[in-house]
Amino acid sequence: MTISPGDFDYISKLVVERSAIVLEPGKEYLVESRMRSLLQETHCPSIRELVQKMVREPNGDLKNKVVDAMTTNETSFFRDLHPFEAMKNVVIPDLLKKRESTRQLNLWCGASSRGQEPYSVAMMLLENFPQLTTWKVHYVASDISEKMLARCREGIYSQLEVNRGLPAPLLVKYFDHRATKWQIKDNIRKWVDFKQINLASHWPHLPRMDIVFMRNVLIYFDPPMKKIILGKIRQILKPDGYLFLGAAETTLNLDDAFQRMDIKQSGCYRLREGQAHPSREPASV
Ligand SMILES: C[S@@+](CC[C@H](N)C(=O)[O-])C[C@H]1O[C@@H](n2cnc3c(N)ncnc32)[C@H](O)[C@@H]1O
Repeated sequence: MTISPGDFDYISKLVVERSAIVLEPGKEYLVESRMRSLLQETHCPSIRELVQKMVREPNGDLKNKVVDAMTTNETSFFRDLHPFEAMKNVVIPDLLKKRESTRQLNLWCGASSRGQEPYSVAMMLLENFPQLTTWKVHYVASDISEKMLARCREGIYSQLEVNRGLPAPLLVKYFDHRATKWQIKDNIRKWVDFKQINLASHWPHLPRMDIVFMRNVLIYFDPPMKKIILGKIRQILKPDGYLFLGAAETTLNLDDAFQRMDIKQSGCYRLREGQAHPSREPASV
């Protein structure tokens, strides 16, 4: 199965319009491989037919399915480890002191994929800061993909998935064995409020955040979109809040308001003095 230049153009325009994910020329192989299971699911014999179906039914759900199929959902428990160490050793101890009077903490994981990242954060918090169970913790995790969000909410992982990064004691403590799979326990699952948020579109109202995880998603966008998203994060991050980006991501040459913290490979940033959004509660951005 090969994709024609016209069909690649149609799909790449659709994907960038709806998700900001950039598919540069040369990524034809990626579209071909990602469309394989969608062709089966929709009983389309070829990508040509699939594109024609989208042209015939412009308001149908097929376009969303194509965009969904083009998202890259690679993730794992405690991915890169350093950000979780930085949270445990620096960020949470600092916020526990600063928020002692309100006993409230707001966290957002902005590209949650199948849920390994938000659940890793939740396990790290419960393991090391059990006092937080008596705090008001508002923990939002979001993704553009409804398929991924369904997986997050279900919280069921294969043996292969739990083998990637999850220490055995945490598996035993925080998961229930379900036949050949593992399900995260209800108390953690219910802690996280999963929502669909398209980072490239209008964001719903979110409270001012103490911590934003925005890891391994900006890499898919072009520089103007990265700037827009960093600008919006700046509006919702508290002046003394923390932003975590992926190992291959940076704010450098994109948004000078952020300053990288010197914590070993953590991808942790803070706002420079005077760069936070002035109002206490932002409007939707
Ligand atoms: C590579 S995963 C990263 C998962 C996790 N943050 C990590 O670092 O392991 C990228 C995620 O970003 C999501 N994504 C892509 N474009 C998006 C957009 N415009 N808005 C929100 N999420 C998006 C994808 O659906 C995917 O789940």
